[in-house]
Amino acid sequence: MYLLNGESKHCIEFLDRGFQYGDGLFETIEVIDGTPVFLDQHLQRLDLGCKKLLIPTPDLSILKQEAFQLAKDSDHAVLKLIVTRGSGGRGYRQPDKIHPTRLFSLHPYPTYPEELITQGINVFFCNTQLGISPSLAGIKHLNRLEQVLARAEWSCPDIHEGLMVNYDNHVVEGTMSNVFIVKDDCLYTPEITQSGVRGVLRDIIIELAKELKIPVIETVLSKDDIYKADELFITNSIIGIWPVKQLVEQTYNVGLITSKLQTLFLQFKKQTLDSL
Ligand SMILES: Cc1ncc(COP(=O)(O)O)c(C=O)c1O
Repeated sequence: MYLLNGESKHCIEFLDRGFQYGDGLFETIEVIDGTPVFLDQHLQRLDLGCKKLLIPTPDLSILKQEAFQLAKDSDHAVLKLIVTRGSGGRGYRQPDKIHPTRLFSLHPYPTYPEELITQGINVFFCNTQLGISPSLAGIKHLNRLEQVLARAEWSCPDIHEGLMVNYDNHVVEGTMSNVFIVKDDCLYTPEITQSGVRGVLRDIIIELAKELKIPVIETVLSKDDIYKADELFITNSIIGIWPVKQLVEQTYNVGLITSKLQTLFLQFKKQTLDSL
């Protein structure tokens, strides 16, 4: 199911700059019982991305209404929102008048075995590195070729995610997730200043950890820091929190802090949904 600028058609103009240049942003949102989960947080990041890319943010109340309209009959699904700068402009130059395109699409929720949440996943370090690009770090723009190349590095179904470093050899994130480690009862996550996406889940987990009085440090992390972690987990809006049980030859337990955050996160998600 699709909603393109409010209408149920799915033909994008070939001059659309999202298609021509990746000139836009996207959000991937879980839907539960007809409700897009953490929609406000997703729209807030979209708004921030629009401001950074100088795209006029589409009316957020219209986006909200369209999100609910498309999600309303789904028990569990994935809602994707793409906003582009629209069509026009010669070459890279923006058109004088920008009419952003907004496209919602609804997809089946992927089925993941429960044990990925309870027992953890297997990850490895991808060879593909992330560029250093401070002006784009944080936002979820449409240019995802590094992730596409990284994801092409494995096909074995027993590997669930690839971790990525940037050209400074700092660990930044997974191909589709943010990364956290626990070391000596503190929670660490890579700062997202040079590369990477500032995940909606990442921000929520940081706030929940603070509620649990767990010190949270956003910093530069090396591969060695990851190997030496007491606990390692990844997050995104669709999977929630997946503990890591194996990184190549290094094994991890699903530790106490990861489990506490998983429990608190599920409570927080339920409360958020109940309050709508
Ligand atoms: C490259 C990348 N980093 C991080 C994330 C996590 O973002 P979020 O928590 O908003 O889902 C994603 C999600 O798709 C991603 O693609």
